[in-house]
Amino acid sequence: MTEMFLNAPALFDLSGRVALVTGAGSGIGQRIAIGLAQCGADVALLDRREDNGLAETEKSIEAAGRKSIQIAADVTSGSDLAEAVSRTEAKLGPLKLAVNAAGIANANPCEEMKEDQYQTLMDINMKGIWLSCRAQARAMIAHGQGGSIVNIASMSGIIVNKGLSQVHYNASKAGVIHMSKSMAMEWVDRGIRVNSISPGYTATPMNTRPEMVHQTKEFESQTPMQRMANVNEMVGPAVFLLSDAASYCTGVDLLVDGGFCCW
Ligand SMILES: NC(=O)c1ccc[n+]([C@@H]2O[C@H](COP(=O)([O-])OP(=O)(O)OC[C@H]3O[C@@H](n4cnc5c(N)ncnc54)[C@H](O)[C@@H]3O)[C@@H](O)[C@H]2O)c1
Repeated sequence: MTEMFLNAPALFDLSGRVALVTGAGSGIGQRIAIGLAQCGADVALLDRREDNGLAETEKSIEAAGRKSIQIAADVTSGSDLAEAVSRTEAKLGPLKLAVNAAGIANANPCEEMKEDQYQTLMDINMKGIWLSCRAQARAMIAHGQGGSIVNIASMSGIIVNKGLSQVHYNASKAGVIHMSKSMAMEWVDRGIRVNSISPGYTATPMNTRPEMVHQTKEFESQTPMQRMANVNEMVGPAVFLLSDAASYCTGVDLLVDGGFCCW
C-alpha cells in the first residue's frame, strides 16, 4: 500500500510551483507571498501601491532563494489581471497557485454612506476577487494541470464586528466566502481547488486607519485568545490550503480568528 509510505512533510513543499499573490505589497498578502517562497514557490507580486512595498517583498523572496516579479496593477481591471497572469507565466512559468489578498476597509454609518464609498469597496473586495480568480483559472484551465486558489475573506463575512459601521465591507466578505465556494464547484472537474481564509483581527497597516486605532484594546478583549493575530499567523493556513496537504479540501472557508466566532 503506497499510502503507508506517505512523506508527510513533503506535502507542504511548494518547490517548482509558480504563484501569483495580489495585495503583495503590504500586510497579509506580503507575508503570505514571502511564506510561499520560503516553501519553494516562485512568486509574482501584484499590488497597486506606489511606495516600496513590492520591492520589500521581493527582497525577502530573493533572500529565500526564489524568483519573483513585481507587477503594478489594479484588481478592478480585468485587462490588468490578464496581463499580470501572462507576465507571470512568461517570466516564471505556468501558474499553479494564487492568493488574492488585495482589499480595502473603511467605515461609515449605513444611512450616511454615499454610493461611491459603497461601490469603490465592492469593486475592489468582491469584483476584484472574481476578476483575479477568472484570470488565474483561465490560465490553469488552459494548462490542464489544475491549481489551487486561496481568497482572503474575513470573519466579518460571518459575524458583524461590534462597534464598526461597515455594511459594505461585511457584505463584500460574505460575498468572497460564497463566491469562493461557487467557483470551487464550477472548477472541481478541472482540478482547480478554491478555498478562502477568514482572518480575525490582524495587526496590519489596514488596522491603523483612524477609526480603528482606538479600538485595538477592545478587539483584543473581544477575542477569546485575548490578542490580535500576528500577520505571520496567516502564512501556515495559506500554505496548507495551497499545498498537497489540502488535496481533498475545496470550497472550505478556514477561520483563523483566535476563536472569535465561537463566542
Ligand atoms: N487586517 C485585518 O484585521 C484583516 C482581517 C480580516 C481580513 N482582512 C483582509 O485581508 C486582506 C489584506 O488586508 P491587510 O490587512 O493585509 O491590509 P493592507 O492594507 O496591509 O494590504 C492590502 C493590500 O491590498 C492592496 N490593494 C488594495 N486595493 C487594491 C487594488 N484595487 N488593486 C491592487 N492592490 C490593491 C493595497 O495596496 C495593500 O498593499 C484584505 O482583503 C482584508 O480585507 C484583513
